[in-house]
Amino acid sequence: MNVLAPEWAAALYLVAASCFILALRGLSSPKSARRGNLIGATGAVIAVITVFLSMKIDNLPWILGTIAVGSLIAAPVSRKVKMTQMPQLVALFNGVGGGAAALVALLEVPHNTTVWSGIATAFTILVGSVSFSGSCITFAKLQELIPTRPLTFRGQPVVMALVLAGALASAVVVVMSGSLLAVLALLGLGLAAGVLLVLPVGGADVPIVISLLNAFTGLTVAASGVVLGNVLLLVAGTLVGASGTILTRAMASAMGRSVAGIIFGAFKGGSTAGSATVSDRPVRSSSAEDVAILLGYAQKVIVVPGYGLAVAQAQHVMAELAQALKDRDIEVVYGIHSVAGRMPGHMNVLMAEANVPYEDLLEMDEVNPQFKTADVALVVGANDVVNPAAKTSVGSPIYGMPILDAAAARQVVFLKRSMRPGFAGIENELLFEPQTTVLFGDAKESLSKVLSSVRAL
Ligand code: TAP
Repeated sequence: MNVLAPEWAAALYLVAASCFILALRGLSSPKSARRGNLIGATGAVIAVITVFLSMKIDNLPWILGTIAVGSLIAAPVSRKVKMTQMPQLVALFNGVGGGAAALVALLEVPHNTTVWSGIATAFTILVGSVSFSGSCITFAKLQELIPTRPLTFRGQPVVMALVLAGALASAVVVVMSGSLLAVLALLGLGLAAGVLLVLPVGGADVPIVISLLNAFTGLTVAASGVVLGNVLLLVAGTLVGASGTILTRAMASAMGRSVAGIIFGAFKGGSTAGSATVSDRPVRSSSAEDVAILLGYAQKVIVVPGYGLAVAQAQHVMAELAQALKDRDIEVVYGIHSVAGRMPGHMNVLMAEANVPYEDLLEMDEVNPQFKTADVALVVGANDVVNPAAKTSVGSPIYGMPILDAAAARQVVFLKRSMRPGFAGIENELLFEPQTTVLFGDAKESLSKVLSSVRAL
């Protein structure tokens, strides 16, 4: 529309970029995450409006129509999606971001005038298409539309090497000549590389790959900022790229794995696979009344929430039980493992929903020394994050992952429905230890019964 002078547009871009930086700052703590999200969204709205007001835009009805269709699909999907399906949603959003950047770059090929803009364009097409197809495969894995285990075939590393070499050659031709055939080859090979990159990655590693692809999308968007000469895209893309990289490294180290090990280990068959065997060894099981007595006469209880608590949506009744225990002068804290659940910060979000005070949520380093002074470790729908196999069983898919030291507590109570293993698909020796007892049932129902019994003590 061109109604905004360039200096005003630049000032508004600065405001939007500041919003993105403040958003990241807000998202670094559960307390301020909601505010951070809102600030980020405000920045995005300012950026989009500035583009419309400061540029001469062709095909306006088409653009507005596309925005309307996208919003009509995304808004209800985002509202309906369950918390446990969030990684799938992030994978999809991430994929369309990378795909959109690749398409924009595709249209810019004929306008490239320098080698640098040619390189930025080729980079955007390649990495954007890797991010798009890779994200689609991660979505399909997490949604269990295809098997979540590593999918490999003979000669996969060779095929991957050939695809990457072909993509590199096509990129050189795109930069030198802008040939349409080379552009299409680059796009196709990028899509193939994304599929080949993610197919061999197994179960627990898939969310780490989402985060890695998220970093790729950030880099793609930054490069498309160079292609289009738009500083804000460059800033926003760099922020996404940097934060995606930091998150990838943090998740990998919380699982005791290296990023290179996850991607290249998969080609050698080293990715986590999970065999999902169900044990028939006997365990000590208890009634809700017995567990209530154990908890009600303890001095210190450490709750270990996990994926099952999220599935059962038991966070509110868990918080009520903790309050009932506190009312009896019992110290209650929560041990939060950074990969408990199915997404980063999953347990923090759940417990915040139930208004659990932030100071009660202790990270692994802080809570681990406290288990030996705890009377009860109450493990609610968690399994892998307390499995001692991570320390003792070389070759186990979780070997090397730092765990919560629940085994050090005087008594350990597991709340779960069956003897089925957790995400990694391996048996948990802690279930069979003499200090352990299991209360079988859905976490929400079990906690409600325990709560009534504690109140009746
Ligand atoms: P898991 O090891 O997956 O164990 C979950 C436990 O919850 C299972 O023992 C299951 O046993 C129980 N459960 C399921 N539904 C339940 C319900 N309605 N009521 C009661 N119990 C229920 O969970 P975790 O300890 O939180 O560990 C997380 C795992 O996911 C790790 O292996 C981690 O690497 C992986 N992972 C994490 C992330 C992130 S970023 N957080 C992402 C992907 C994967 P029953 O079936 O017998 O009830």
